[in-house]
Amino acid sequence: MQHVTQDLSGKHILLGLTGGIACYKSAELCRLFIKAGATVQVVMTEAAEQFITPVTMQALSGRPVYGSQWDAREPNAMPHINLSREADAIVLAPASADFIARLVQGRSDELLSLLCLARPADRVPLLLAPAMNREMWSHPATQRNLMQVAADGAHVLGVGSGWQACGETGDGRMLEPAQLLDDVTAFFQPKLLAGQHVLVTAGPTFEALDPIRGITNHSSGKMGFSIARAARDAGAEVTLVAGPVHLPTPRGVARIDVTSAAEMLDATLMAAPRATVFIATAAVADWRPAAHSAHKIKKDGSGQPPVLHFVENTDILLTVAQSARAQSGKLFCVGFAAESENLVEHAKAKRERKGIPLLVGNIGPLTFGQDDNALLLVDANGLRELPRAPKLALARELVTEIAARLPGWSAR
Ligand code: CTP
Repeated sequence: MQHVTQDLSGKHILLGLTGGIACYKSAELCRLFIKAGATVQVVMTEAAEQFITPVTMQALSGRPVYGSQWDAREPNAMPHINLSREADAIVLAPASADFIARLVQGRSDELLSLLCLARPADRVPLLLAPAMNREMWSHPATQRNLMQVAADGAHVLGVGSGWQACGETGDGRMLEPAQLLDDVTAFFQPKLLAGQHVLVTAGPTFEALDPIRGITNHSSGKMGFSIARAARDAGAEVTLVAGPVHLPTPRGVARIDVTSAAEMLDATLMAAPRATVFIATAAVADWRPAAHSAHKIKKDGSGQPPVLHFVENTDILLTVAQSARAQSGKLFCVGFAAESENLVEHAKAKRERKGIPLLVGNIGPLTFGQDDNALLLVDANGLRELPRAPKLALARELVTEIAARLPGWSAR
């Protein structure tokens, strides 16, 4: 079953639509906010209503849309005050070039700009998802205005690049709804790892026997990718060394794709000197074929299977944990253990064997490929269970646990 993480649960988002063809994406964005647990109040400018109807946005948000500062539904006749104060965030998507210019000037002659100006800036953040033609985007006036709204306290999200409705190609497209959901969700996460550089290994490795076949395992990479995303959302710079998996790169994460354990070791050792936290979630093959056949190993007609010889792969986690950086307390190492039985004993023993401050145990067959998992945290003080939950929710809890351990850890 696909789990939707209720990351926006309890949040009330004022979704403001301004004039632009990207309004068609705002319908999907509204749906995604609601699926993620938020309540959504839509406010549209007159120009936005040229592109999508308030009826569509009302049906998707389950609330009447506001469009006029003279809206008589508010008993005190002050929709700009009421709507801006009940919101946890105002998200303008799409934010047109003209509307951004209006924000810069503090204009307030229609409801949406009026409520942006009237918002209590210290507790109601303003997020902008710009959308416009590439020439409008790169125009110095727009870039100047974007710098000014950011200086005035707005949070400007990025833009996409590619084909535009006008037929031109370039920067300025509104980000896709799923990307905006990720960015808004990230915005709300506490920045527990600000200033940290987190290095994560994830997924399986593939140890080639010949150009056709190889040895791998069932790891999907989902837990590692969720941890990379959670660390990024918590404000860390994140490098993700990924074995062969079919997962999209979490936004803002630097990804290095590798295939074999040896490549994973090299990529990890390259990144480790800058890292302050290392989380080894990868299911690294313990063994690789001693010889790699340049051509496909063929049946020889004798009916005898080929004899394969293996050599042990270097333990990446152990190597990093024994590095001077980790030993001197500059790099906090977290290991994972995928077991099939006796989780507590194996996890405790593995933590000591690898010489790391924190080990996360899970039952392999119950997690590989799943969207949820249950974790057992083992450190010098004992055990803590994180009950079954979506992997992203567990990743956020793990990030909190790691952040709590960093300040007092070892030689720091
Ligand atoms: N690991 C690693 N490099 C390896 C093998 C494992 O970095 N060559 C890391 C994994 O990413 C994980 C931890 O070590 O964080 C546990 O790996 P596991 O293979 O379960 O542990 P082993 O020490 O090999 O123990 P066992 O085979 O007895 O389960």
